[in-house]
Amino acid sequence: MNETASLRARAEIDLAALRANVRVLRARAAGAQLMAVVKADAYGHGAVPCARAAREAGAAWLGTATPQEALALRAAGLDGRMLCWLWTPGGPWREAIEADIDVSVSGMWALREVTGAAEAAGRTARIHLKADTGLGRAGCQPADWPELVAAARTAERAGAVRVTGLWSHFACADEPGHPSITAQLETFRDMVAYAEKAGVEPEVRHIANSPATLTVPESHFDLVRTGIAMYGISPSPELGTSADFGLRPVMTLAASVALVKRVPAGHGISYGHHYTTPRGTTLGLVPLGYADGIPRHASGRGPVLVGGVRRTIAGRVAMDQFVVDLDGDEPAAGSEAVLFGPGDRGEPSAEDWAEAAGTIAYEIVTRIGGRVPRVHLGATADGSPAGP
Ligand SMILES: Cc1ncc(COP(=O)(O)O)c(C=O)c1O
Repeated sequence: MNETASLRARAEIDLAALRANVRVLRARAAGAQLMAVVKADAYGHGAVPCARAAREAGAAWLGTATPQEALALRAAGLDGRMLCWLWTPGGPWREAIEADIDVSVSGMWALREVTGAAEAAGRTARIHLKADTGLGRAGCQPADWPELVAAARTAERAGAVRVTGLWSHFACADEPGHPSITAQLETFRDMVAYAEKAGVEPEVRHIANSPATLTVPESHFDLVRTGIAMYGISPSPELGTSADFGLRPVMTLAASVALVKRVPAGHGISYGHHYTTPRGTTLGLVPLGYADGIPRHASGRGPVLVGGVRRTIAGRVAMDQFVVDLDGDEPAAGSEAVLFGPGDRGEPSAEDWAEAAGTIAYEIVTRIGGRVPRVHLGATADGSPAGP
């Protein structure tokens, strides 16, 4: 019995798989650098160990949404290039500048704040100007780009900032052949050309997320920003499976079965009695619930491997637990229930759960709650680039 076996539940994180995935993605985008996107606690996988493993496998950049996430990585000892992009007024600009973190600027208010913070710190801030090439979320609209670029050039000449990056983000890269992909690429090239003509000399131009890295080679530019694929999950079933791309799922979510018992036919199961045993059977109680990130929408649908057999959630997912109908089998209490993983033992995938819950696999892994310990396997002690 391994030392994690006594845990109620655990998310095992295979860092060797993560390193191998980074190498696969780097090979896919040869000629570009790779940014390991480790926002949202590395999509639920644990930001610090995953960031370390990604670095070991050659990720030149780390990317986070919030500045707090980036600062936490620095505090944990991660050095090298790092970008964070989700800023609100009054954010920790000065701390980010002093921690050598590149920051994203989508508009004039952000440029004013970062310039002020750089002057106060007596440092030059490294900024990536973000273009809204069609996503309609963060980023500067093409109509406002000349004003932002001109102001950034003025701040560059004053020594307050250096524009190290020009960047954007796709809306539909996970939908092969979607017309917005080429439209966004064209707008991105135009906005980059405009900025360069105005004197901006970016180190990196970047727009590709995982689906674009995997399927749109002309989007790679100088840097690709990969999140979900690095965690071994396909960005969308339409693009293919993770195995099709040579990627291996990094997270295995498992629990110890808390109780196995016999019940008669016609027994209602869990809140609302949305499942009734069709015959005398055995039930297994799995001690994970929506407080742990198991989607309640997966009630009656979510797949689980118990005793080597795939079962389906019987009735509703509750806050801390759900039930599976074991069809008369009687695995011992303490047997392993595997909700998802790489599939080696026949367990479901995070993609299977996404389908069962009517969501995307990104949400399945990211929402696994803080009550579930992450058990990191395959860390290298000295940071040497261990093989996959
Ligand atoms: C700006 C930005 N870049 C890159 C990514 C990584 O996307 P993916 O997980 O599809 O690789 C994200 C994630 O949503 C993002 O917000």
